[in-house]
Amino acid sequence: MTKKPYYITTPIYYPSAKLHIGNTYTTVAADALARFKRLRGYDVMLLTGTDEHGQKIQRIAEEKGVTPKEYVDEIVAGIKDLWKLMDISYDRFIRTTDDYHEKAVQDIFTKLYEQGDIYKSSYEGWYCTPCESFWTETQLVDGKCPDCGRPVEKAKEEAYFFKMSKYAPKLIEYIESHPDFIQPESRKNEMLNNFLRPGLQDLCVSRTTFNWGIPVKFDPKHVVYVWIDALTNYITAMGYGNDKYNDYNKYWPCDVHLIGKDILRFHTIYWPIMLMALGEPLPKHVFGHGWLLVDGGKMSKSKGNVVDPVVLVNNFGVDPVRYYLLREIPFGSDGLFNNEIFIKKINSDLANDLGNLVSRTAAMIGKYFDGVIPAPTDKEEIDDELIKLALDTPNQVDKAMDAFKIPEALDSIWNLIGRSNKYIDETTPWILAKSEDKKGRLGTVLYNLVESLRIISSLVASFLPTTSSKINEQLNIELTTWDSLSAFDGTRAGTMVKKGDAIFPRIDVDAKLAELDAIREQQMKESSAGDAKAEIKPIKPEITIDDFDKLDLRVVKVKECEPIKGAKKLLKLKVDLGGEERQVVSGIAQWYKPEDLVGKYVVLLANLKPVKLRGELSQGMILAAASEDESKLFAVTIPGDLPTGSTVS
Ligand code: MSP
Repeated sequence: MTKKPYYITTPIYYPSAKLHIGNTYTTVAADALARFKRLRGYDVMLLTGTDEHGQKIQRIAEEKGVTPKEYVDEIVAGIKDLWKLMDISYDRFIRTTDDYHEKAVQDIFTKLYEQGDIYKSSYEGWYCTPCESFWTETQLVDGKCPDCGRPVEKAKEEAYFFKMSKYAPKLIEYIESHPDFIQPESRKNEMLNNFLRPGLQDLCVSRTTFNWGIPVKFDPKHVVYVWIDALTNYITAMGYGNDKYNDYNKYWPCDVHLIGKDILRFHTIYWPIMLMALGEPLPKHVFGHGWLLVDGGKMSKSKGNVVDPVVLVNNFGVDPVRYYLLREIPFGSDGLFNNEIFIKKINSDLANDLGNLVSRTAAMIGKYFDGVIPAPTDKEEIDDELIKLALDTPNQVDKAMDAFKIPEALDSIWNLIGRSNKYIDETTPWILAKSEDKKGRLGTVLYNLVESLRIISSLVASFLPTTSSKINEQLNIELTTWDSLSAFDGTRAGTMVKKGDAIFPRIDVDAKLAELDAIREQQMKESSAGDAKAEIKPIKPEITIDDFDKLDLRVVKVKECEPIKGAKKLLKLKVDLGGEERQVVSGIAQWYKPEDLVGKYVVLLANLKPVKLRGELSQGMILAAASEDESKLFAVTIPGDLPTGSTVS
């Protein structure tokens, strides 16, 4: 029988984003869903990848003196390592720099242009010249560039736009007639009421201010801007518009896009509209989970509260981290990450509830049956209650996972764990062991416990894969298929248990918290040392003495200096260059009053091509030294009365 396909996607990650516990959350959740659907017998495709283009990457690479591709290659390797550490069982990994994706994006863009959904116009916004970035009014921080904090100017650039408005009514109708398309429900209303119903603006889909992107095929001075490049990964990775893969008809439309709430608008408005324009079906569900917060706020480097998943996994193992994310954060709402709650949860839910159930069961079989799993011989009412719950739990988990209620699925499993522990207390095997005629009963109790653990372990495997393997190894469990969970007889009596170490050793909360604090402090120190270094700009590529010789640097004396009307930053200087008078416009008004400069001997780059700035001719450039944040600036002055026109070399 051919298996039914089930296609899950995670967002593709920006290589520039520091991966913290918050952004591993989406992928861990997607992995749990994928593993569960595999257990349910689906042919699962779990797609993840990286979103590698854009100005930010280009700038970081330039600062590091490497090509953008070299830069992202290194980071992507690190992201893949992180997914390995987090036990992510992805089936395919797409990079937006993959050739097949780039070609498909170019064709998609051309098709949309040719059919009239994309048109050329101009983009108006606030421009930061040093960063070469456009920002919208709302992106500015205190009216300044959000990246570098410098002043911005209003500017216009030629760009292509996508006619979003054309498809809005059709999308509203679609969302209204597919009530489970956007989940959770509250997010659906937010999209409809805050964005769609008030009217959509057309989306800018190209840029000319940087070139680290996919060139528009018919107008290559433009690169495709972010969202057409990024969102289409979900279909190109299945083979849409390329020959690399041939799975599009099998997997598309996907069953669910799992994403964080911050990118919900792109996935539930722009992406469905792009698909409508392409004539392709829409995803079945888009689920926007909440935000992972620390100490009640967002994680940020400056606050020093960024939770590093690698530190957690190295200290506690991967499954406790997965457990906390999947059980403790209500899936769909914001949730808190807190070290103390995390460690206490490990002690209570993992070490006490699950760990003890396994070790007590294995120890009793060791002690009373020499490690051989006994066969059941009888059945009492108290057994029925356990058996009924054990057989019902897989269905509860199934129902919860179908509705993307991951914590509820774990609640059901832990309910069975609790019931099994209670069963030990109720049946008191240590008392049964005292009378030879209760041996049969004791055997039944222990068999039932192993069998219950078989079901628990099979279900836990989707969330905590390593833990499940450890349980299976200790209790010699083999049958973990979905079908084997519908009968309470999968354990083979007569097999040996292998008592091993506690699967979750108890943790000393205070000692471990102190250790984690020390690690964080150390990381902060290292990162601020790194930042201090990063403030010094890297040295530019080497030049020869001949290159330097092209610069004609001369000593000049400032004779007159005045501000330029309407240009707050500029001063107009008249300088004496060995009898010749020159006019120079210099952007130093923020640091010098005109009268401070008159009479000073400064250095002029005398053979710089003249330009007009604010209508004033500038014949050269005054040299100045500035701190990286430009809070301080000094013109280079000569502390004596050298004849004007003297050369500087
Ligand atoms: N590249 C885009 C996605 C394009 S998908 C076509 C992107 N990348 S990201 O690296 O910034 O974010 C990846 C995922 O991490 C997103 O789902 C985002 O919502 C999620 N999170 C980032 N910080 C988070 C928290 N603090 N908490 C929970 N999820 C968070 O966006």
